[in-house]
Amino acid sequence: MPRSHTARFLAGAVNAEQLPPARHPEVAFAGRSNVGKSSLLNRLVGHHALARVSRTPGRTQQINFFVIDEHVVFVDLPGYGFARVPLAVKGQWKQLVEAYLSGRSRLCGAVVLVDLRRGVEADDEMLLGFLRAHHVPAIVAATKADKLARGERTRRVRALDTQVGDRASAVIVCSSSSGEGMAALWNAIDDCRARHRAAS
Ligand code: GTP
Ligand code: MG
Repeated sequence: MPRSHTARFLAGAVNAEQLPPARHPEVAFAGRSNVGKSSLLNRLVGHHALARVSRTPGRTQQINFFVIDEHVVFVDLPGYGFARVPLAVKGQWKQLVEAYLSGRSRLCGAVVLVDLRRGVEADDEMLLGFLRAHHVPAIVAATKADKLARGERTRRVRALDTQVGDRASAVIVCSSSSGEGMAALWNAIDDCRARHRAAS
């Protein structure tokens, strides 16, 4: 049985001044434009219209905060790596996301989404580097698994595990379409929160 959750929008921020005070532990969701961050967030909490899902990559250029079950905040980070987004916006992304990732004492971890069909790409490497530099534990969510046939999928998962190595506490194969991997992802998020609590 999937767990049921309450969820509400808390705030959106386009610059560091607009970041809301952290009243709860936070878990960030990051990844390339169009990789499926908003879809995953919606599926995880079972509210299909919480975070906006878009067919136009690179639309969400702000950080959105959602309070889940009144005790944890899920943070939908703007996507990166979309070629048609102007350079100025890319600079803004870096500034905003870096300000967020470096200044958030209640940030327990980040779910880094990668498309299972594509694996870890250059921009994802950059993000994993960011996270490590700021001591933010990473969970890799390999999404859109429903788009792969079984043989290909096994091969991709193996390659991804090798690519990620020790840079994430877990690599979880998932799909926001089928719901695969949601329980495992919740467990990994709960682990992250427990470790963060123990350390602070
Ligand atoms: P930005 O906010 O623009 O960075 O995009 P995003 O990462 O939030 O992606 P979003 O959730 O908006 O999804 C992008 C597209 O991928 C949409 O058309 C989704 O329906 C589709 N999609 C997301 N996750 C999955 C999945 O697991 N399987 C399949 N088949 N499609 C997915
Ligand atoms: Mg989105």
